[in-house]
Amino acid sequence: MSTDIRRIDLTRDYEAHREEYRQAIEAVCREAAFSGGKYADAFDREFAAYVGTPYACGVNNGTSALHLAMLALGVGPGDEVIVPANTYIATAWGVSYTGAVPVFVDCTADTWELDTSLLERSVTPRTKGILGVHLYGQPFDYAGAREVADRHGLFVAEDCAQAHGARFGGRNVGTLGDVACFSFYPGKNLYAFGEGGSVTCKEEAYYRHMTRLKNQGCDVAYHHDEIGYNYRLEGLQGAVLSVSLRYLPRWTARRQEIGRRYEREIVNPLIQMQAHPAGTEPVYHLFVVQMEERDRFIRYMAEAGVECHRHYPVPCHLQKAYAHLGHRRGDCPNAERLADRCVTLPLFPEMREEEVARVIELCNRFR
Ligand SMILES: Cc1ncc(COP(=O)(O)O)c(C=O)c1O
Repeated sequence: MSTDIRRIDLTRDYEAHREEYRQAIEAVCREAAFSGGKYADAFDREFAAYVGTPYACGVNNGTSALHLAMLALGVGPGDEVIVPANTYIATAWGVSYTGAVPVFVDCTADTWELDTSLLERSVTPRTKGILGVHLYGQPFDYAGAREVADRHGLFVAEDCAQAHGARFGGRNVGTLGDVACFSFYPGKNLYAFGEGGSVTCKEEAYYRHMTRLKNQGCDVAYHHDEIGYNYRLEGLQGAVLSVSLRYLPRWTARRQEIGRRYEREIVNPLIQMQAHPAGTEPVYHLFVVQMEERDRFIRYMAEAGVECHRHYPVPCHLQKAYAHLGHRRGDCPNAERLADRCVTLPLFPEMREEEVARVIELCNRFR
């Protein structure tokens, strides 16, 4: 069985911009600016300008970004941080690495994002903040989260790993919360040729603290003021990301074009799509749909040469790693239902019109 349409194909980007990427990599090698350094710093400045925040702290991946963000916000043992049950597990890791406990909250039945109407009942005297996720590129209800946070003196942090360039109420994600975490894992809307991440923030103190923590706890070389980490962004990744960042607005527009076309033209009562509330501008990182016969659909698409995927088959609260928290099926029914029914259709900026049309046609023919 050959795959004619892959869920994502990064080789097309490399082929289209090969010379620019090679020159960027060559410049880093010539100067041996490999760990942090000039190219990583330049990317931080460019990314901060793109997001619209004073600071961007480049790190070695999005999971480290989440960990540093939690540390900067003072999260530690004995604390609780509210996170959605429907997310990639790394959101929860960021909390767990500090010794705090992630408190999982269900998603809504239609947006599949954090249900902010459930937040109030999850707040306890131990709650330190809310870590929301703009999952699949769709902004979560930031205003709803902020309202609860303000009432209880909590922080709101954003996990923007899947949402570079998305907007909520006319504002870019990454500028909304106290801190915001990005991933540049290959396949993300903006991606490194390896691993990368960033934390954006407005507070200089957070930025300085995270810069020290990612750099082995040093402000001055070999003077370790606190226990730190090696979470630096590599120079090669910074240089590659600076090239890609120039194309991100174009890639985002193309993702939106394909996503909106799927939404308009896939008409099949068996397939349910994600709702996009007014005032949100999604960037279609993943085009996830729900259906009863998910496995049969994935087989049907594979037989037709189209690769689909599942994001994510097990919600966070039911992962074995969190068995000690004592969750059961039924605790987050919307997230569980989604995990059982989700399918991700191919969507990436370099998709050709005939590939988009083929996916639509197959979806519409599925019975
Ligand atoms: C929502 C979310 N949060 C965090 C991460 C972690 O990022 P990384 O893989 O760069 O560590 C990812 C991506 O994998 C993600 O999708």
